[in-house]
Amino acid sequence: MSKKLYIKTLGCAMNVRDSEHIIAELNKREPYKLTSEISEADLIIINTCSVREKPVSKLFSEIGVFRKYKKDNAKIGVTGCTASHLGEEIIKKAPIVDFVLGARNVSKLSKVIDRRHSVEVDLDYDDSNYSFGEYRSNRYKAMVNISMGCDKSCTYCIVPATRGKEVSIPPNLIVQEVRRAVEGGAKEVILLGQNVNNYGKYFSATGERLNFTGLLRKISLINGLERIRFASPHPLHMDDEFLEEFAFNPKICKQIHIPLQSGSTKVLRDMKRGYTKEWFLNRCAKVKELSPEVSISTDIIVGFPNESDEDFADTLDVLEQVRFNQLFSFKYSPRPHTKAATYPNQIPDEVASERLKILQNRHKEILDEIMSSQVGKVYSVYFDELKSGGKISGRSDDGKLFFVNGSEELLGEIKDVKVTKSARWALEGEVIN
Ligand code: SAH
Ligand code: SF4
Ligand code: F3S
Repeated sequence: MSKKLYIKTLGCAMNVRDSEHIIAELNKREPYKLTSEISEADLIIINTCSVREKPVSKLFSEIGVFRKYKKDNAKIGVTGCTASHLGEEIIKKAPIVDFVLGARNVSKLSKVIDRRHSVEVDLDYDDSNYSFGEYRSNRYKAMVNISMGCDKSCTYCIVPATRGKEVSIPPNLIVQEVRRAVEGGAKEVILLGQNVNNYGKYFSATGERLNFTGLLRKISLINGLERIRFASPHPLHMDDEFLEEFAFNPKICKQIHIPLQSGSTKVLRDMKRGYTKEWFLNRCAKVKELSPEVSISTDIIVGFPNESDEDFADTLDVLEQVRFNQLFSFKYSPRPHTKAATYPNQIPDEVASERLKILQNRHKEILDEIMSSQVGKVYSVYFDELKSGGKISGRSDDGKLFFVNGSEELLGEIKDVKVTKSARWALEGEVIN
């Protein structure tokens, strides 16, 4: 009988992909079956995120839950970003944990799995040339890492301290992986990195060197691949060459995440983002000019130290001008290993909460305006997930989520769908051909 694995993944798409790599590496040793029951598992893994404060305290309460429900001989592993920055402390605080494996150390899984209390969290470890085993939770859309780590030093962000320096994965390895995914049934890939459009600045191996635009061109030559998405580009590196490739390469989906963080040039400077409000607006205007059908999503932090009412008004102004199709918004959370945590003038929680509410409410209104004008429109939808109740879901080229009545035969297919009903976050429709 094969062993059972319970794996819980927190955080961003890179962590989701790391979890797939963990499963693939385990399966290289012996087959594991996934379970959603802690009490059935032989191995329990929590793949952590530390980008905001809550996930860290959540980790120790999760470990408490594992302790309560786990089988006697089941092992517990802590992986991911919190593993990277807390390291050994996790075992000191919770000796029930068997191993700690940091983000960017995933390829060392077999080193830690049989050695009780082993800790591998080397921030300089470089597995950019390592070929992971193949495991995908959804064979129709494939996540593919193109770089690891982050070379920026945004003053609020812990990621450089959990994922280390930026290294690009060689183009031939990326192409190989995309080809394999396409052979396995994927028509869509999502290229992942903390700053995808900084791709190519540093490779640790010799060989072909490309920048992000070059990589996009190369990947789009792969037969059978129909759609390319990526997350996230950095506003600073959005040069015209890249925006033109984005607009005119038909395989690149017209959906782009452009993380704003703040609309105030003063706050952006304090965050060390490297661009101004005007530059951000200029890049969004250029994207819209070249690709009028584009959907733009963003990340915004409110309540950054010293953020005044005027600064927040600048953020609202950018929201008004760009009219984002999706917004991920957060209250600033002071993190260890970050400069901003030591800044004076931290903003009281009530003020940050109020700003978050105002921002989210205005975004919802904008979204309702955008979505209520959708009925009757036709989109090309790629179906990638079966849902309950005879429904199947998919996404349009510009990233809108669709639900239609349908079954398995639509999976992996791209069809024209007419919108019959709209809601704030998703559309219903019928396949017309
Ligand atoms: N590399 C990506 C961001 C990864 S972190 C980029 O540069 O866009 C994902 C998001 O979490 C960030 O965009 C930011 O909005 C948010 N975030 C990061 N650190 C944070 C903090 N200390 N408090 C609140 N939100 C934070
Ligand atoms: Fe964090 Fe900035 Fe790097 Fe994004 S670019 S991961 S926000 S340091
Ligand atoms: Fe991702 Fe969270 Fe790490 S957002 S990079 S898993 S801190």
